[in-house]
Amino acid sequence: MKEVSDRKIEHIEICCKEDVEMRVNTSGFEDVWLVHRAIPEVELDDIELQTNFLGFRLDAPLLISAMTGGHPKVKEINEVLAKVAGELNIAMAVGSQRAAIIDTSLKGTFTVVRDVAPDAFIMANIGAVQLVSDLKVEDVKKAVDMIEANAISVHLNPAHEFSQVGGDTKFKGVLEAIKKLIHELSVPVVVKETGCGISYEDAKLLADIGVSAIDVAGAGGTSWPLVEALRAERNGETLWAEVARGFAEWGIPTAVSIVEVRSVFNREVIASGGVRSGLDCAKAIALGADLAGFALPALRAASRGVKELKEYVSVVMNQLRGAMLLTGSRNIEELKRAKVVITGRVKQWLEARGFDVKSYARRSFP
Ligand SMILES: Cc1cc2nc3c(=O)[nH]c(=O)nc-3n(C[C@H](O)[C@H](O)[C@H](O)COP(=O)(O)O)c2cc1C
Repeated sequence: MKEVSDRKIEHIEICCKEDVEMRVNTSGFEDVWLVHRAIPEVELDDIELQTNFLGFRLDAPLLISAMTGGHPKVKEINEVLAKVAGELNIAMAVGSQRAAIIDTSLKGTFTVVRDVAPDAFIMANIGAVQLVSDLKVEDVKKAVDMIEANAISVHLNPAHEFSQVGGDTKFKGVLEAIKKLIHELSVPVVVKETGCGISYEDAKLLADIGVSAIDVAGAGGTSWPLVEALRAERNGETLWAEVARGFAEWGIPTAVSIVEVRSVFNREVIASGGVRSGLDCAKAIALGADLAGFALPALRAASRGVKELKEYVSVVMNQLRGAMLLTGSRNIEELKRAKVVITGRVKQWLEARGFDVKSYARRSFP
């Protein structure tokens, strides 16, 4: 298990220090335009960010995405993330708990989250492929109990596992394993990607087995193939680094993935993957998401401290408020109906896949 734990530390180091974001295959929010209202008929002070997610009242539609735990050195990062999530009453997910299920001495790197944020909405996390290879439902129950989780997010990461030297690539049976989990756990099961997005086809499979929410975690932000290429280079695996680098820009852009998933999935949708500003959050919600999540910016801010992470989130919240004011949206439900013009690459992608982009621009016209 030391190998998993050490890998986690290398991931954190690389993500904090190196350029690990996609550059060509962006999140697509630059092609999503909220239609400005010159007569918004709303007062900034009346705008409400509160929302419900899986039956829990949050003070803003924001999620600190799954990242860490599982190594003594990252306990402090989880503590900072949880403190801010708790104080601002936004959602948070921990990183994969597999290491702590197998080596219980690592539990404290996760339980710290519940200790500092007793009332927050916290999601447990586990890899879907490990449900097939080495984790049983009983183990997953332990992950949920470990942090008294409100829900569990199960991550799908085929591009990551493929790019990783010695990655686990036996993805046969993953859907069935998630289905079993849904039947046997008492908390909602959220399924997420890790930066390559979820298609209409896969969202339909997930809808059919009854997952409670989907986090699209699309392309445009942190690139796991790129992180693994950098890690392979560090460890002298230069040929494999070249293979992994070939997939650095792989995936469905987040803006596209939100539309694809929403068109077939009528439960809760989280938008993440390259979400970097409050404006991105507003666009994601107007495209059909319920929450917006961010990982890398939260990690980088949290590595500097509570104050820095709080400042980052407050900028995001104020930008979100601004976008709501300028679209005449008094609350999140109204923002979901704001008119959106989709241009460029995102429009081309969606039209090629048969989606009607005009319906977003005209929505509630008489
Ligand atoms: C350092 C780091 C560690 C991560 N570890 C996990 C993990 O353990 N489980 C998981 O589901 N996602 C993990 N992710 C993926 C994120 O939750 C997210 O889906 C992805 O980074 C895209 O979001 P971003 O562009 O805002 O970073 C990790 C991301 C980062 C940056």
